[in-house]
This record gives sequence, C-alpha cells and structure tokens, in this order.
Amino acid sequence: MIEIGAQQEARDTGRPAARRRFDAVRRESETLASRLTPEDQSIQSMPDVSPTKWHLAHTTWFFETFVLARFDPGYRVFDPAFHYLFNSYYEAEGPRHPRPQRGLLSRPSCADVTAYRGHVEAGMTRLIETAADDLWRDAARLIELGLHHEQQHQELILMDIKHVFSVNPLLPAYQPPRRRTAAQVAPLDWVELDGGLVQIGHDGDGFAFDNEGPRHRVWLEPFRLATRPVTCGEFVEFIVAGGYREPEYWLSEGWATVQQQGWEAPLYWRAADDGWRIFTLSGDKRLDPAEPVVHISFYEADAYAKWAGKRLPTEAEWEVAAQASVERDAGLVGNLADSRRYHPAPDGGGTGLRQMIGDVWEWTRSPYTPYPRFRAVSGAIGEYNGKFMSNQMVLRGGAAVTPANHIRTTYRNFFPPSARWAFSGLRLAEDA
Ligand SMILES: [Fe+2]
Repeated sequence: MIEIGAQQEARDTGRPAARRRFDAVRRESETLASRLTPEDQSIQSMPDVSPTKWHLAHTTWFFETFVLARFDPGYRVFDPAFHYLFNSYYEAEGPRHPRPQRGLLSRPSCADVTAYRGHVEAGMTRLIETAADDLWRDAARLIELGLHHEQQHQELILMDIKHVFSVNPLLPAYQPPRRRTAAQVAPLDWVELDGGLVQIGHDGDGFAFDNEGPRHRVWLEPFRLATRPVTCGEFVEFIVAGGYREPEYWLSEGWATVQQQGWEAPLYWRAADDGWRIFTLSGDKRLDPAEPVVHISFYEADAYAKWAGKRLPTEAEWEVAAQASVERDAGLVGNLADSRRYHPAPDGGGTGLRQMIGDVWEWTRSPYTPYPRFRAVSGAIGEYNGKFMSNQMVLRGGAAVTPANHIRTTYRNFFPPSARWAFSGLRLAEDA
C-alpha cells in the first residue's frame, strides 16, 4: 500500500500545483482586462504599445504553439490564422503581423479572443491532467515559462493601457484614485558595501529566465548605494536647475534624443498653472514630491546622476545589495502589482536599503549582454531573451505593476536607453 501511495504521489508531482498556478495566472490577466471596454482593448497608441486584446491572445498563442502543439497530438488548433496574427517575434515560427500594426486588428473581436482563451485553457487542463509521465517533465518546464511569460505581459497590459489613456484628451482613469495623506520623505542616505569577489546570477534553484544565469564571479570595488530611489521632488530640482537644457549632463545620444523628442520632463508630466501634474493609472493628479520619479529613460537617469555628482549602479552592485536586503527583510517585499496600487509609493523610512523590490524598475549602467558561459537553447524558445542582447540597458527590482511572484533579485529586465513607457526610475550609487 505504501509503495502504491508513493507511486501515485510521484505521478502527481507538480500537476495539481501547476494546474492551480495556471488557473491563477490566466484569471489575473482577465481581471486586469475586465476594467477595459472592447474599444479600450483594441488601441495601439505607439509602435511599442500593444492592444490589451493582442496581449490576451498572444499569451494564449504561446501555450498553443509551445505546449499544446508539441505535447498533445490530439490538440485541434483554434484558428490557423491566429499563428500569423499573434506570433510576436519568433522567427522560427514563421512570418507574423507587423508589430506597429497590431492596433489595426479590429478582428478577431474581444469575444473571439475570449473564446480562444477558453479553447486553449481546456486543452491545457486536459494536458496537465493526462500527459504521460515521460512528457510531463518537459511540458511542465514550458508551462512554467508560459506562465512567467504571461506575467510579463500582465505588466505590459498596465504599461500599455497607461500610454493609451494618456493620449486620450479625456484622460480616462484605469482605476479610481486612492486617498493618501502627504508623506514626508527621509533625506537621501547611503549604505556602504565592501565589494570584492562576489557571485551574481541565478543558482538553478526554482524558475528563472535563461538570461539570469549562469551564476558567476564578479569583482566589485567598494561602493555606496542610496537607501531609496530618487524622488519626484528631487527630479524637479534637476529640471529647475536647467537639467534638460545643459548638454554637459548628457550622453551624446541622450542629448540628441532630448533635442529630437523635445523632452523637458519625464513622460506623463505636464506643467499646469498649479505646478506639475502627472498622469497615472488612477488618472491625472498633482505631482507628489515624495514619490519615486518614474517613466524616465536611461538617458535621463544617467543625466540626473551626473548632475547630482553620482552615478548609476552596475547590475552586479545592485544584485549583491538587493540580496543582502532581501535576506534582512526575510523575503521579497515591496510595492508590487499585488497591492493593486499600480503606482510607486513614497519611502516609508527605516534603516538600510529600502524599495529595492517594487515601486520602480531601477536603471543600471550595465548593458544587457550575456553572462559568461551563457548559451541560448536551440529552437524558437532560444529566441526568448538571447537575441535582444544588443543596444539595451538592464533594469532591476520590479515595479508597482510587476506581479509579486514574478520578481527575483537576479531578474534582468531590459529596454532601449530611450524607452520611457516602462515604470522606470533610478537609485544613485557612488564609489566608496
Ligand atoms: Fe511575448
């Protein structure tokens, strides 16, 4: 009896948990979309933004293409035309609809996409429950990747709808505003770290994207890291001091971008009679100087740091410091998407490093390149991260729109240096 019980347990290993996690992640995407009308869900306000409807369909296509088509010979594709419409960037999967034209897809309708999601979910449920044991291990790995992929798109749904609403003169609010009493933020303070020979990168325990490993050694000189991110109030000082008008603070490409784009402040800031106002997922509001500054490019983060006489941290400096602060906090705690605030919050004070996790993605000065001994897997899945390792910079720590069980201290986000629509801010560093 004991033996049979043990066998049964081995067969079920991971399956009920995979099913629960699959259902929870899929429902969360629908919860995020439930505040939006079909019209809201169809708009693409710039080439980087995808319509909500497209995100909901593309994350479904990922499971259909990389899990069901591979592991379930009896699976019937929902609509063969969707392979072209909802492939994002996988060359190995063939031609695809151009990214800047996703907003032209009035068809399939939101209702069609809902039906597509239901069809694939039924197939996935069947697969999780009935896949042969020898297939299950490989299928489970791809399901886990598909769920982290969908969580990345949950953050994109929020980033993208914020941009969509920001260009609508009605300035619609994604959710009602939250009342908050004005906070006094603590003066900037510093934590000193020894550096030396340290290790960074994922150690293979639990899920991580391929770009987070292999774990490897890095030499760090002693450095100091600011205890909290730069605030809106501090960033206003940079603007008032002529930060956007003085080329001496800017990288050459950054200064050229300031000129071309006419930047005078972070994205979503607007000068009004009563001072700066910002656009948030809770609508238009007066700028709160205590909140971390968000929606700045790498160029603006770098220019601010130079103006302040400091610099941005490297990703290795950030990771070593974050690991220490997570151990102190006994876990990854911070203002993440699960708070449903979807906006960075002022530093609550305390000792040591704060807000390393959540609030704003922190630009580092590290280019997004492979770690030593990194090798992308072969085939379409190998295109997930590796092929983007040029002309982008690394951001760390997650933001107020990042799902809590999706972030890690080793997590490497990346964007081109001019991108501003992500929830990106900065934390200062200096040499010790
Ligand atoms: Fe994707």
